[in-house]
Amino acid sequence: MPRFKTILVTGGAGYIGSHCVVDLLNAGHDVIAIDNFANAVCDEEGSPALKRAQQITGKKIVFYEADLLNKPQINDIFDKHPIDCVIHFAALKAVGESMQQPLLYYQNNLLGMLNLLEIMRNHECYQMVFSSSCTVYGEPEYLPITETHPTGSITNVYGRTKYFIEEMLKDLSAADEKWNIISLRYFNPVGAHPSGLIGEDPTKEFTNLMPFMAQVALGKKPVLTVFGNDYNTPDGTGIRDYIHVMDLASGHVAALNYLGSNQVGLKVYNLGTGRGVSVKELVEVFERVTETKIPLKYVDRRLGDITAMWADATLAREELGWSTKLTIEEMCTDFWRWQTMNPDGYPKKSKKTSVIVNGNS
Ligand SMILES: NC(=O)c1ccc[n+]([C@@H]2O[C@H](COP(=O)([O-])OP(=O)(O)OC[C@H]3O[C@@H](n4cnc5c(N)ncnc54)[C@H](O)[C@@H]3O)[C@@H](O)[C@H]2O)c1
Repeated sequence: MPRFKTILVTGGAGYIGSHCVVDLLNAGHDVIAIDNFANAVCDEEGSPALKRAQQITGKKIVFYEADLLNKPQINDIFDKHPIDCVIHFAALKAVGESMQQPLLYYQNNLLGMLNLLEIMRNHECYQMVFSSSCTVYGEPEYLPITETHPTGSITNVYGRTKYFIEEMLKDLSAADEKWNIISLRYFNPVGAHPSGLIGEDPTKEFTNLMPFMAQVALGKKPVLTVFGNDYNTPDGTGIRDYIHVMDLASGHVAALNYLGSNQVGLKVYNLGTGRGVSVKELVEVFERVTETKIPLKYVDRRLGDITAMWADATLAREELGWSTKLTIEEMCTDFWRWQTMNPDGYPKKSKKTSVIVNGNS
């Protein structure tokens, strides 16, 4: 029996949220998920991703279509359910869009978090796992990056929302020792659940490498655009630490277990493999395991993109007892299974016009 029984998952219909829900249910937690469908597919009955998460686990999820900017809605959910801990995924995350619409990003990500924290405090729920990002490190001063690397010199608005929230959480945990928060700095999540039933299907225009590459492999897009092949790396393309989304999900269960038996105030952990892989290498592995050919087009570097970034994941291994298990080959194979089983993503029906806040699952 896990120490925290009922977990509120914000952004639960999204990519990482829906995969994490599967692991939470398998670990014996009860899940209340909320999402406003800003970047997730919905149908007449709610979230197809969460319906499939129920199918995978044989367990039930309570789902609310709700917006973190709507305080009464969120408050009602806390009034109704004895929530032990919150995993806060809900955020807008497109770097390019964040530069064009900074107010939207500050409002959604910062105000959403403020509302949530206030409601949690009012309901005496002080346990939280927060989705942060390696973006908070900015241009690395050394590699691999440890959690003590300086943060804050960030080149985009999205990353700054994560940085500001971490600063806010520092202040909060310093002011009131009841708070018990783990901020997980994700590196580059890719892949899909091995069943092929759930995967990444954003509703906003996406530029993430793996979904784009899979669309090229399917012939839905003509060519994969690679931004920069003149970086100071062995093959000239940028290097990232790709992590399988199911490894990322298990990192959240490990963080919950840790919070359940430790009072940490605020602690920060990197979730990555500790291995850097170049864009070119990833494309080659993808081509090999999927037996497809990806035409590449090299264009200029994107402003703000960094050369190389990978994690030192020692702290999570030593303290949370967590490490990644899945390989780059498995990331590609599992994503390809999802993409070929669902070439158009989740079945899309017309979006509901009314907001239902009554626990329809
Ligand atoms: N995917 C990545 O590469 C990556 C890397 C580092 C950190 N993160 C962070 O992890 C979290 C999850 O990312 P993801 O890839 O699953 O993104 P996602 O867009 O698939 O999921 C986020 C979900 O939150 C929902 N949402 C947004 N604003 C909301 C609001 N105000 N109220 C209710 N729901 C809202 C969206 O509809 C979406 O379903 C985000 O906080 C993101 O910033 C993601």
